[in-house]
Amino acid sequence: MHYVQNTHALPNFSYYIIFSCSHDFILASLPCRPHQKEPVKKTQKSGSPKPKQQNRTGGAGWGRKLRAASMTTLRPFRCEDMFHFNNVNLDPLTETYGLSFYLQYLAHWPEYFQVAESSSGVIMGYIMGKAEGHGDNWHGHVTALTVAPEYRRLGLAKQLMAILEDISEKKRCYFVDLFVRVSNLVAITMYKKLGYIVYRTVLQYYSGDPDEDAYDMRKALSRDTQQKSVIPLTHPVRPEDIE
Ligand SMILES: CC(C)(COP(=O)(O)OP(=O)(O)OC[C@H]1O[C@@H](n2cnc3c(N)ncnc32)[C@H](O)[C@@H]1OP(=O)(O)O)[C@@H](O)C(=O)NCCC(=O)NCCS
Repeated sequence: MHYVQNTHALPNFSYYIIFSCSHDFILASLPCRPHQKEPVKKTQKSGSPKPKQQNRTGGAGWGRKLRAASMTTLRPFRCEDMFHFNNVNLDPLTETYGLSFYLQYLAHWPEYFQVAESSSGVIMGYIMGKAEGHGDNWHGHVTALTVAPEYRRLGLAKQLMAILEDISEKKRCYFVDLFVRVSNLVAITMYKKLGYIVYRTVLQYYSGDPDEDAYDMRKALSRDTQQKSVIPLTHPVRPEDIE
């Protein structure tokens, strides 16, 4: 394991940060839904009721959480991580995808797929994204960001987002964007704290009963000197209108 202090100093985004030690286990979270053109699975899996979240989060004291956080390694996602991240995806709100979907991201945008791992090798969370678009729409996109309930409020999501933004800066993107359920106040609060604004509302973006709207949130990067990418639209759009 490499011990590093500054993610910006790292070539090829190999191993990032971290210190410490502890024994821990992982729980779940909710990946953002990807752009409409990508395959998206329903929120609920049929035939396999998920355990209640409070039963799975109980018992994680702050001392243990802090020890776990101080032992975290942020590193690129590896193929074999897919054998170990099922528990991360068992949260009732989590949207999961077929293996080919994850492999597609791993093959095309490996630098955008980063995992937070505990000292005992448990996956604490991950971020999956990509770069896409043409001209001044060239941007980084957060497809999934998830931190297990046990390890929330420790700054892991913030660090994972910082990696994605740093990669996007290096790729000369104009902005970073993501989609989030309008009901997901925790995530919206976090993104706002990280400098994202609601660029537009996408009506009925998430299928379900009922369907749910999404906020398309954006943060301008340094290449967008005039901040054009973050001038909010005054009207909502439909999923088919998304580029
Ligand atoms: C949203 C989520 C990724 C945040 O992960 P996290 O590691 O707990 O976030 P961080 O610790 O990095 O928090 C960064 C900031 O976001 C804000 N924030 C995070 N969780 C918050 C909460 N429950 N209430 C209020 N603010 C919160 C805080 O301002 C926080 O900074 P602070 O702790 O210094 O005050 C996590 O709650 C999660 O996985 N949720 C389910 C999945 C999800 O919704 N993903 C996003 C889909 S688009």
